Amino acid sequence: AIHKVGYLIGSLARGSINRKLAKALVQLAPPELEMTEISFKDLPLYSYDYDSDFPPVAQAFKKAIASVEAVLFVTPEYNRSIPGGLKNAIDWASRPYGKNSFARKPSAVIGTSPGSIGTAIAQQSLRSVLSFCNAPQMNAPEAYIQFTPGLITDDGEVTVESTEDFLRNYMAQFHMFIARVLQVLPPDA
Ligand code: FNR
Repeated sequence: AIHKVGYLIGSLARGSINRKLAKALVQLAPPELEMTEISFKDLPLYSYDYDSDFPPVAQAFKKAIASVEAVLFVTPEYNRSIPGGLKNAIDWASRPYGKNSFARKPSAVIGTSPGSIGTAIAQQSLRSVLSFCNAPQMNAPEAYIQFTPGLITDDGEVTVESTEDFLRNYMAQFHMFIARVLQVLPPDA
């Protein structure tokens, strides 16, 4: 079966290394995964004042998450956490109360940083958020990618073979994780 996967890139920067990583992951994903970016850059800052009447941009964002069977987070680490824009997007998707878009939706977390711990602390923080949002998460493999210059080209080509193999396996494992979760938690259950 084909599975629709939405991916969120935590960075809004034009030269984002996490966007390069996301491009690589799309190219290395098994053919069973249909990958679509879900952008959050146009969302206003969330407040529960919006809960009674979400603006169209937020409705579209929630719809985009609802339309995929799984979500992949590709995020940098900013000040040892996830970027504020990504947290804002998650807050939007989690509301209004009782309409949490992440509930029972299989998810995975990956990221890259020039630093040697490769976004590990941001990922840990994101995992706590996803736990609260009741999103089943792939626990393993973990993927902390240290970005060295040229590791991934702007077109998403991975220049180091061991890294390419690692990322291809990561996506294959994510595919199997999604299939397992959907077996016990079909989206309409
Ligand atoms: C960073 N950076 C960073 N790196 C890291 O490994 N841990 C961290 O806590 C931080 N903190 C941080 C805060 C802010 C505000 C910025 C702008 C940057 C460096 C960061 O990893 C680097 O800029 C990457 O290029 C960010 O990924 P994107 O945005 O290029 O995908």
